[in-house]
Amino acid sequence: MNHINSMKNWTFLHACDMQPGSPRSFRFNPRFMENWQTAFSQLKNMEADLLLVGGDLTRDGTLHDFEFEAIRNELTQLPYPTHCIPGNMDVGNKFSDIEGFTERDDPSLNATADALDRFTRFFGEFPWSFTHKNVRFSGFYAALAGSELPHEERMWTWLEQELPSLPKAEHHVMTMHYPLFIDRPDEPTWDITKKEEYTHWYFSIDEPHRSRIFNAFKSTDVGIVFSGHIHCRRPVQIFDGIRFYKCAGIGFPQWGNQWEDGDPTLGFYKCDVSQAGIKETFIPLESESTAEGAYGPGGHPKPEERDYSLAWK
Ligand SMILES: [Fe+2]
Repeated sequence: MNHINSMKNWTFLHACDMQPGSPRSFRFNPRFMENWQTAFSQLKNMEADLLLVGGDLTRDGTLHDFEFEAIRNELTQLPYPTHCIPGNMDVGNKFSDIEGFTERDDPSLNATADALDRFTRFFGEFPWSFTHKNVRFSGFYAALAGSELPHEERMWTWLEQELPSLPKAEHHVMTMHYPLFIDRPDEPTWDITKKEEYTHWYFSIDEPHRSRIFNAFKSTDVGIVFSGHIHCRRPVQIFDGIRFYKCAGIGFPQWGNQWEDGDPTLGFYKCDVSQAGIKETFIPLESESTAEGAYGPGGHPKPEERDYSLAWK
């Protein structure tokens, strides 16, 4: 009986980049909120064992506890548990010690210890790893690499010492926010100071960290890697036997014309686990919002650009 039960197929979900924001903030885009609400109602009707959330749960989580409270409250209404890692909108960007090509002042946007600890208060410790049935699920925030924050040391210890010592499962699924690479693991580190490479830099992990993480994946039998951040889905790419998925966004699409095989349609993944392995199915949002009435700056505004006079009281 047990044997038959253990063979039963089951489902898990992966979603990321909802970042609905809040009308209480200095900026708000009702389109992001409406898209998240569409995804949320679809997710509520899914039958699954668990949901992986690949970061960017908030738009300005680094500023507002109320964004974390709202999304946490919604996620707890789902009929299955969720396991969240942070994204840059939640805890700050990928580390840089130099200014990039844009006006952003990149070093000022780096993830901070305070923001990382705040995320933990709302969604629990990360990195995390656990097994469910025949799958090990792990999640971490690779954008810390190079930061020299205590959280970075914690990340390497976890990746290189703890993960290899954990009991193996039939499959190992890794969740990360920034993709490890844009096109291939052996591509160069993109140059933050060059106009034509800035976005590539912003969407990937630099060497030597990339190789170090890739090696850690290989030595812990990672079979599937989900990443977010780009908000454009791409057919699976396989390197050294590891299936890399660049996932769709939920709040809004991005980078839709970067790749011939890229698809910016909003949605999430449903993954069915059977004896044959793990098979992903893309679930598009039932509708994509065209809501208007956005206010405030986009992107990563400096503090002086945050004007709260339009925020809902
Ligand atoms: Fe992101």
